[in-house]
Amino acid sequence: MELNVLVLPGDGIGPEVTREAIRVLERVAAKWGHALRLSEGLLGGAAIRETGGPFPEETQALALKSDATLLGAVGLSEYDDLPPSERPEKGLLGLRKALDVYANLRPVYCYESLIEASPLKNNIVRGTDILIVRELTGGLYFGQPRGIDGSGNGETAVNSMVYKRSEIERVCRMAFELATKRRGMLTSVDKANVLENSQLWRRVVTELASEYPEVELAHMLVDNCAMQLLLHPASFDVVVTENLFGDILSDEASVLAGSIGMLASASIGNRLPNGVWRGLYEPVHGSAPDIAGRSMANPLAAIGSVGAMLHYSFGLSEEASAIESAVSKVLKSGNVTADLHPTGQPASTQAVGDAICAAIG
Ligand code: IPM
Ligand code: MN
Repeated sequence: MELNVLVLPGDGIGPEVTREAIRVLERVAAKWGHALRLSEGLLGGAAIRETGGPFPEETQALALKSDATLLGAVGLSEYDDLPPSERPEKGLLGLRKALDVYANLRPVYCYESLIEASPLKNNIVRGTDILIVRELTGGLYFGQPRGIDGSGNGETAVNSMVYKRSEIERVCRMAFELATKRRGMLTSVDKANVLENSQLWRRVVTELASEYPEVELAHMLVDNCAMQLLLHPASFDVVVTENLFGDILSDEASVLAGSIGMLASASIGNRLPNGVWRGLYEPVHGSAPDIAGRSMANPLAAIGSVGAMLHYSFGLSEEASAIESAVSKVLKSGNVTADLHPTGQPASTQAVGDAICAAIG
């Protein structure tokens, strides 16, 4: 199969972790005989430096031409004082929108070998296997009006949580479909006791439920969900929610997996004419400038994102499973980076990449 993949290493630890993820992708392509066509582009702070803006035209054109995009991370502290519209993060938001990848899938899995890496008690995190489906191209991140206006004590800032019925429907349909392939439970998370936006969300999800009688639907308020995720994580299967709620809950949920360095993600939207799901694949973690360039970063979230790419965009489940097995094997060996609190000497980013490639064979 031909795999046209755009790589956007981005900022901070992005280049280090994507380097290992690409080596793993090359290993898989060689072993299974796929033709890998890689291109590389600029996004985020790296793009601001070179071109003056976080999301160059050329990057957009490359992304639209590729079947799948692998992103490292965006964000640099030197741009912290810029308004949202000029920051590195704006590049990522623009890319998600341009690709129309409205469903961001973030699996949260507690490996038995990492049970001690979580600060939570073993009996709480044991058995955690959650799929967070975060709406990615609407809600508070994109709603209009937005901005800061006025001056003095009257200076006012506005952001808007806006969803059309069709936007809620398409992401929730994706979540229902995914739930049918898992344990058949879907929790829709909202703030319907306060927000009209959530009331529409709840109505639309409830209507859809009649099309999926095999899925058990529950509604949960976002504040309660934040608590239940830490009290009873193993009781969740698929969780679907608004953009900002999903952003916050997924960082929280990473504590169940031992480290945010374990969380991969797949952002998908529409199928291309060639049947491939166009997707954007990125670790859930950020650019972590404090450890950038020191070969300390955990590459497993980026490597897991390559696994998700093989699975969702290219339908190559055998290859994706091979990556999963390799990750599981390496975790058992204890050859892991510092964020996972190994008992021995922490492994470097590259050593973990080497171990995964060796395990794939
Ligand atoms: C994430 C990140 C991004 C987001 C930032 C970098 C814009 O936190 O992917 O979770 O908020 O979506
Ligand atoms: Mn986030």
